[in-house]
Amino acid sequence: MKPQQVVKTTAAFLVTLGAIVLVGTWSTSPRVHAQNDQGDDEASLIRIGYQIAPVPLNLAGKDRDLVGLGSYLVNAAGDCNGCHTSGGPPNFNYANNKNPYFGQPEKVDPTTYLGGGSDFGPAVPPSAAVGGFPPGSEPPSYPPAEYGTYVGPDIIARNLTPDKTGRAEGGHTLAEFKEIIRTGKDFDHLHPTCTSALPTPTPANCLPPPVDGDLLQVMPWPTFKNMTDHQITAIYEYLSAIPCIEGPTDPNNVLHNDCGTEQKPPKPGSWKKQ
Ligand code: HEC
Repeated sequence: MKPQQVVKTTAAFLVTLGAIVLVGTWSTSPRVHAQNDQGDDEASLIRIGYQIAPVPLNLAGKDRDLVGLGSYLVNAAGDCNGCHTSGGPPNFNYANNKNPYFGQPEKVDPTTYLGGGSDFGPAVPPSAAVGGFPPGSEPPSYPPAEYGTYVGPDIIARNLTPDKTGRAEGGHTLAEFKEIIRTGKDFDHLHPTCTSALPTPTPANCLPPPVDGDLLQVMPWPTFKNMTDHQITAIYEYLSAIPCIEGPTDPNNVLHNDCGTEQKPPKPGSWKKQ
């Protein structure tokens, strides 16, 4: 080999080596990242989930990793209990004398945990009622003029605890739960869209358009829908492991849950079949 050829061959070898190193870095970097020691791999999230769950968990027949991950998503990321508590002022979701906003040592109130009932007022408050509008701007656009002062029923967070079937969220199946989180569908049809305004808005409890009454309002499903199937399943599994809260005794009240005499856990793996 002439010296020139040696240089060329060496250069080609180095380029190839560089390419291998680069490809190697690309293909391994996601794995290296997932296994880093920053504490954000799934095993750490599961561990944190168990540390922060504020209620005793019924793990019979449950996938423990999913329950732990679900607890992390519900209690560290999704703030589900921030809205779905049945606790009122002044402590809302916190126990008496354990309100972190008062500078007290924090404890979530287990007796109201995810029991539902927080009232968010009407779906869209009438523009005039939220402090008027600046001079020169449009007059109030909601509700439409023919509805007068009618704004529809208040939007109230639902009871997410399992009922006597042991299934999450008052007996919903995993398939239904996924549909709720992905599309915002209200299976209870609590507040349909109004079909007419006069003489009285119909049907009962309707929401004036353009609000789509078939969809859950306030509930951040447009954000939560971006979670993976695995994550939504984990939330469902966790919500089926928390204690049942009966809520109002009236069985017709949407917040009521039939806890049965004793909460029966679902058969092992039964959630997988849905
Ligand atoms: C900003 C407040 C808020 C947060 C945070 C929130 N929700 Fe909701 N959620 C609501 C309200 C309000 C409703 C009822 C909406 C309606 O009636 O239109 C609701 C409804 C639901 C429903 C439907 C219940 C049924 O019976 O069909 C599910 C399921 C649900 N939420 C799950 C969750 C989960 C899981 C989280 C946390 C990952 C969460 N929510 C966080 C406010 C919230």
